[in-house]
Amino acid sequence: MRKKTLSQRVDEIRPSGIRRIFDLACANPDGIDLSIGDPDFDVPMPVKQEAIRWIENGFNGYVSTRGVSELREQIAANLSGRDIAFEDTLVTAGATGGYILAIMAVAGPGDEVLITDPYFVAYANVVIMCGATPRLIDTYPDFRLTADAILPLITERTKAIVINHPNNPTGVLYSTDDLRVVNEIAKDHGLHIISDEIYDRFVFTDAPFVSMGNIADDAIVVSGFSKTSGMTGWRLGYVSGPAAVIDAMATFQQYSYVCANSVAQRAAISAFSYDMESQVQKYRHRRDRLLEGLQDRFRMARPEGAFYLFPEAPGGDADAFVNRAIERKLYIIPGNVFSAKNTHFRISFAASDADIDRAIIILNGLAEEFG
Ligand SMILES: Cc1ncc(COP(=O)(O)O)c(C=O)c1O
Repeated sequence: MRKKTLSQRVDEIRPSGIRRIFDLACANPDGIDLSIGDPDFDVPMPVKQEAIRWIENGFNGYVSTRGVSELREQIAANLSGRDIAFEDTLVTAGATGGYILAIMAVAGPGDEVLITDPYFVAYANVVIMCGATPRLIDTYPDFRLTADAILPLITERTKAIVINHPNNPTGVLYSTDDLRVVNEIAKDHGLHIISDEIYDRFVFTDAPFVSMGNIADDAIVVSGFSKTSGMTGWRLGYVSGPAAVIDAMATFQQYSYVCANSVAQRAAISAFSYDMESQVQKYRHRRDRLLEGLQDRFRMARPEGAFYLFPEAPGGDADAFVNRAIERKLYIIPGNVFSAKNTHFRISFAASDADIDRAIIILNGLAEEFG
């Protein structure tokens, strides 16, 4: 009898290092959990009430694969208010669901996808799950996008470049010049640009956020409601881009997710009218608190968006540093979860001021030990 085996791709994918530390944090509720990128504010009450109303009214069946039309109109209106015009939009099962379908649409076995390193944990693994090969663009030490770092990686097989801004884990916001560099390279080499902009509302600069969609109208832009509206568990995102790409993604969605969560879609229509500014200002204040508290003992890029800080680990070994932090019940993530390197660590500041203050004391103590 032949032995039952798993697919080869199982060996190529490692479980998420964030989830491992988050599970430890959950098992130690008196600790300080700065591990996960889950906003610490709740879904706005009017959005919750909308969800309840639609459930009670019996809106519980399948909806169109492309998404509820009123929500798609709202998404398009929101984008056009920011001077972005895409050919089409697909509502997806979170930004992650959108990213998976986008990679499926543009890359397959034999293809290569460029990914900026450090990167969000799903990026390289999803490329591998689709049978393609990720190629990492080293953006250390300042995490900017440069032609010098990107061009040597391009081969005949390169199909797409994935960027993320505001960035997880670095908090970096790319300049218009950075985005133009990517667009020029993508045009010259026939690459799709996938830009994950899920943190587009979490921007701490005075100037408005510049989307890849403002620079390249054929970009594939991934976004969603998880972070902006504190709806990480509702699994609702969207992807806008060229009609041919969105059509292909919609077909893949028919056979995979079928449609995004129907109730969440109805409720999210009202999420657009909820003003997030006070939350963003709270996160900006926490960013400042951390920078000030850690500046004497840590080297780090100043985050201009998202809610993460990515300092260098004193002593140079992020695992050793993070393990010691975990012994003190401070849950942070070593850089190798997001990178080929293991020189930095990530702090999520989606946490209370009190936890951030306690974390600053522990981290400074550890810096003395490791420095
Ligand atoms: C850059 C980035 N993209 C996507 C996601 C996941 O978004 P969603 O929960 O909508 O799938 C995250 C979550 O941490 C993220 O940091």
